[in-house]
Amino acid sequence: MSAAAVTGPVVLGIETSCDETGVGLVRMAAGGPVLLGHAVASSQDEHARFGGVVPEIASRAHLEAMVPTVHAAFGHAGIDPREVDAVAVTAGPGLAGALLVGVAAAKAYAAAWDVPLFGVNHMAGHVAADTLEHGPLPAPALALLVSGGHTQLLRVDDLAGSITEIGTTIDDAAGEAYDKVARLLGLSYPGGPVIDRLAADGDPAAIRFPRGLTGPQDPAYDFSFSGLKTAVARHVEQAERDGRTVDVPDVCASFQEAVVDVLTAKTVRAATDLGIGTVVIAGGVAANGRLRALAQERCAAAGLELRVPRPGLCTDNGAMIAAVGAHVLAGGGEPSGPLLTGDPGLPVSTVHVG
Ligand code: KG4
Ligand code: ZN
Repeated sequence: MSAAAVTGPVVLGIETSCDETGVGLVRMAAGGPVLLGHAVASSQDEHARFGGVVPEIASRAHLEAMVPTVHAAFGHAGIDPREVDAVAVTAGPGLAGALLVGVAAAKAYAAAWDVPLFGVNHMAGHVAADTLEHGPLPAPALALLVSGGHTQLLRVDDLAGSITEIGTTIDDAAGEAYDKVARLLGLSYPGGPVIDRLAADGDPAAIRFPRGLTGPQDPAYDFSFSGLKTAVARHVEQAERDGRTVDVPDVCASFQEAVVDVLTAKTVRAATDLGIGTVVIAGGVAANGRLRALAQERCAAAGLELRVPRPGLCTDNGAMIAAVGAHVLAGGGEPSGPLLTGDPGLPVSTVHVG
């Protein structure tokens, strides 16, 4: 079905929780949200030399990119601002200053166009991104959310309001582990895409790195990646002490295998234990080629349906925020109003700030 052929309210989504300024336009049709167009401006290059996101630089970059990115999204969607029926914005979790820029912009657009404003949860957005591609989610679904700041297993009953955390990382997030390991190998930021690429030329069985929290007494649905990061650091230090050159592709492939082995094993276990038949993997790390392949293999073996958005919708974008807004609007959710503020620690159970 072409986007032009469907009818329903149009939602503009604004995302500024980290280092991507994302603006997306979505139409809520009877069969679920349909992507009309979106644009993303990234300040990643400005953070690269620091090896991680610098909040003040990110906030300033959002300010500069906001209006041009809104224009680019309208250009891409081929629609007019007068067609917008609601504005959705990431209210959290994220960097305080970065969220503030998006929330202020969203309030201004909603007031100027005289349409309702919905503050929504960034993590719900990552899950909702999948509905843009694969249609409505069956309820319940199990979501594995893997990003730079979060690693969570979520039971999703309703994208307009009911999401429950059933597991999380007790230390580093999966994406954070990729970024830290890339840094200690002297690779560029963000680490995920570069390790993903280099791992393709390495042997995933070259080094047996530890699989965190997989012992019989460990919590079944929680994750830990800081021990793995330390093990990679020890491996590199030992090679340097011995005067050996580090085989970077082998380290990347072995590290990546340890990450995706644990992520997929715990996800399949949780879905099976909870009797949930559909798994969604979302968030920046869901762009990872090996994670996608191993998840496919293990879900198929366990008789589970697997849904993963295309890589461009896995990393932060405004379309996913518009998609949550569209679900909330369709579900009759209360608009957030002009007092909306960003909440850096917004829990995933708060899908929409009413
Ligand atoms: O969801 P996201 O775009 O932003 C946050 O909300 O954090 O996720 C960013 C994270 C970064 O840590 C980045 O290294 C990781 O996603 N990432 C990847 C890949 N692409 C991005 N990790 C592994 N493989 C990839 N291909
Ligand atoms: Zn994200």
